[in-house]
Amino acid sequence: MRLTYFGHSVVQIKTGGATLLFDPFITGNPLAEAVTTADVLSADAIILTHAHGDHWGDTMEIAKRCDALVVANHEITEYVKKNGHAKVQPLNTGGSFRFEWGVLTQTHARHSSSFPDGTYGGNPNGYILHAEDLYIYNAGDTSPFQEMTWIGSQQAIDLALLPIGDVFTMGITGATQAARLIEPKLTIPIHFDTFPQIKADTEKWQELMNKIGRDTRVLKPGESLDL
Ligand code: NI
Ligand code: MN
Repeated sequence: MRLTYFGHSVVQIKTGGATLLFDPFITGNPLAEAVTTADVLSADAIILTHAHGDHWGDTMEIAKRCDALVVANHEITEYVKKNGHAKVQPLNTGGSFRFEWGVLTQTHARHSSSFPDGTYGGNPNGYILHAEDLYIYNAGDTSPFQEMTWIGSQQAIDLALLPIGDVFTMGITGATQAARLIEPKLTIPIHFDTFPQIKADTEKWQELMNKIGRDTRVLKPGESLDL
């Protein structure tokens, strides 16, 4: 499995011959635009945590061009269909679906969700991806919440993707609290440094994480990690 980070919450995972793309906000994302453009990214599946513009991003362009399956909550998949792309798989919180490349389970996230045009975007979510015997938890945009303990106890999380940018999600202290609950083997931070308001002190965050005995890896936009 190969994971590539494109800045903000854009995470590409190649597994089982498929390319998965989480929250493909490329256009208007200065971190992503420094290393790629939406029109060169391909995907077999686009997986959305919620409808906010900094996650929804280039979904329609990439989905149509690549004939990608869009996986998201019901409200988002209905919106995708109304915009002329029928290849979707809706999920709702707590639901799992087995794809050729792995199993996705939608989790709770403590946030909000609406499209850039104001349309209601359903509840925000996180995801647990089970593929190649690995459990990857993408928390989405969220604060810490106590049920993260349950997420970590149902399966040993190999990798957690946690937002650390603060203001719109948890910051470095909240993400450390979250890691304390989840107990992931490795944590990669997301949703930071894209804009001045969500600048994060990653060194300080790594210190906090090391204090609770948790491994971290900060990926630069465009950087990959083999798992
Ligand atoms: Ni959001
Ligand atoms: Mn966001």
